[in-house]
Amino acid sequence: MFIGNLAALICIVAFQAFLHSDAALVAVYSVQRHGARNVLPKGIFLTEDDLIGGPTLLPQGQLQTYNAGVSFRTRYLNTTTCVATSTCLPGFGNGTKYGVLNQPGVGFGNFNLYVRSSSLDRAILSGQCFFNGIFPPDPTDSTNTSYMPTGEQVVPVYTRIDAEDILIRAYTKCSTYQNRLLTWFSGPEFSAKVAESEPLRRQVQMQMPGMDTTLVNWWNVYDAINVYRTYNVGNPVPNFTQSLFNQIQDLAYWLETSKMRSNLTGNLLGGVALADLTNYFRLAATASSNGLQAFYRLLSLSGHYNTQLGLIAALDLDTWTPAQGFSWLRSLPKLAAVMVFELHAIDAAAVTLPEGSWPSFFVRLVYQDGPAASYGTVPLPCMSTAAAVALSPGACTLSDFLSYASARALNDSQAWCAACNNSVLNACVAAKYVGALAAAEAAAAPDGSSGGGGGTEPWKIAVSVVVTFVGTVLLAAVAAAFWFHGGRGRGDADAAAARQFGGGVGNLATQLVVCEDGRGRAI
Ligand SMILES: *[C@@H]1O[C@H](CO)[C@@H](O)[C@H](O)[C@H]1NC(C)=O
Ligand SMILES: *[C@@H]1O[C@H](CO)[C@@H](O)[C@H](O)[C@H]1NC(C)=O
Ligand SMILES: *[C@@H]1O[C@H](CO)[C@@H](O)[C@H](O)[C@H]1NC(C)=O
Ligand SMILES: *[C@@H]1O[C@H](CO)[C@@H](O)[C@H](O)[C@H]1NC(C)=O
Ligand SMILES: *[C@@H]1O[C@H](CO)[C@@H](O)[C@H](O)[C@H]1NC(C)=O
Ligand SMILES: *[C@@H]1O[C@H](CO)[C@@H](O)[C@H](O)[C@H]1NC(C)=O
Ligand SMILES: *[C@@H]1O[C@H](CO)[C@@H](O)[C@H](O)[C@H]1NC(C)=O
Repeated sequence: MFIGNLAALICIVAFQAFLHSDAALVAVYSVQRHGARNVLPKGIFLTEDDLIGGPTLLPQGQLQTYNAGVSFRTRYLNTTTCVATSTCLPGFGNGTKYGVLNQPGVGFGNFNLYVRSSSLDRAILSGQCFFNGIFPPDPTDSTNTSYMPTGEQVVPVYTRIDAEDILIRAYTKCSTYQNRLLTWFSGPEFSAKVAESEPLRRQVQMQMPGMDTTLVNWWNVYDAINVYRTYNVGNPVPNFTQSLFNQIQDLAYWLETSKMRSNLTGNLLGGVALADLTNYFRLAATASSNGLQAFYRLLSLSGHYNTQLGLIAALDLDTWTPAQGFSWLRSLPKLAAVMVFELHAIDAAAVTLPEGSWPSFFVRLVYQDGPAASYGTVPLPCMSTAAAVALSPGACTLSDFLSYASARALNDSQAWCAACNNSVLNACVAAKYVGALAAAEAAAAPDGSSGGGGGTEPWKIAVSVVVTFVGTVLLAAVAAAFWFHGGRGRGDADAAAARQFGGGVGNLATQLVVCEDGRGRAI
């Protein structure tokens, strides 16, 4: 018995030594909160005024996100420091700069780094500053024939119009979620908090007579006070004592984190990002097992605390006891806070795995609560002993992570539009056409697998839609897709793209998940 245990122990220790020596970081998927910005009035549903770009990132916010980028570099890219935490993320050919691949030292290009941001000023600028910290200016590259005069390495930050963004800002567009919030606002828990906070709110109201100090509007009260107090911008506010300010802040934190509980959000706010994350990790593991170099290995969403908390809620971390120590469940992520899903492999280049089974890949969630903090781990509900031994406590095998997260993912815009009851977004209008097309195809299928009554012909779909400009364009696309269905398929297109890039493109031909219908066709 003792001998048995000892043997097992030796085995684990030996195994662990083996794992640690061969472990490699394959990909990271990072989600950041922007830095400090000027005052932002928000609606009770987390919506905000529709000014182009919204309030701007303050100089202090630029520095916060830059510093978060420097820590990120220290943890993942600086070859001197990343070994200490076994978190070196090798780029193409081991390089650690961003630029045109196949230049000395350049490891990240458009082929393996993908930064997306919400279309708001504060997030776009935060993304740029974060990556300035990650790929800093290099005076040795400051030539007048290449690079910027400071050796700056500029990284593209992709974005899409806010009205269509359900990857980073689904939280502003989901009526199912807004209805749940309304129910919660009129329920007993919220009413009790209204009563409990009445003296505090009255006190603030007396000193700020023009302010709406109702509980639903409390975020705006706190934000106006906090931004002026901390950064001296915006309209002057009274100089509240520290103890009163702390109460004001605690109430705002309670309100904002409560709105992001999983029993209110479900996967409505984070489900699309979860689908995106699982998609890229699956692709990275596949590419890496096949020894490919060019696959997306540094993925980043420059977003908002609601983006981060939406993902956390979609993973049900708030109802899972081992994660209760995670401070973001009770107080908001700090400005420029970072959360990173890490995909680790054991000797990834040497193993060939059948598709769908990933015994050598592991996933861990880590976070940094503001640029001055050190990174910590958040245990995931799919954690296992095997993953703890291989990587660290709280980690999951990739298979377990994919099963857990994929079940909560909203895999395409159709799924999100249906769950959120949204028929306004272009993606949702398009989803309706795709749904109608699928129904028509099923009805017309010779095996009659739809079981429905009679085939719907394309012209019937055509006359049944309200023809907006978008509708017209989509209609043409749907008609073309319908008539050419069965012809040249997506697989051929991928192969052609692969040939064009020299065959080693891994996942480059994948479209953004939210732009595809259920069968992987771009819409
Ligand atoms: C890498 O880290 C070392 C040790 O902290 C530091 O001296 C060096 O400047 C860093 N290099 C870069 C490019 O960040
Ligand atoms: C990357 O670095 C490792 C270890 O330093 C080395 O063995 C390997 O050849 C390098 N790969 C490339 C493509 O430079
Ligand atoms: C680069 O700058 C130096 C010094 O300013 C100048 O002498 C040189 O001609 C410049 N080279 C080019 C290619 O412009
Ligand atoms: C606000 O009050 C504190 C003491 O409570 C004081 O130290 C500080 O200087 C005041 N700030 C301003 C801007 O008046
Ligand atoms: C939602 O969860 C919170 C705690 O996370 C709990 O206090 C509340 O009662 C739950 N609401 C419902 C409707 O289950
Ligand atoms: C999302 O897609 C993945 C991969 O195709 C699948 O395993 C998962 O079941 C899907 N999730 C849902 C909720 O349909
Ligand atoms: C969905 O939205 C429509 C209006 O766009 C509304 O009439 C309908 O009641 C909503 N359904 C649900 C379940 O909320």
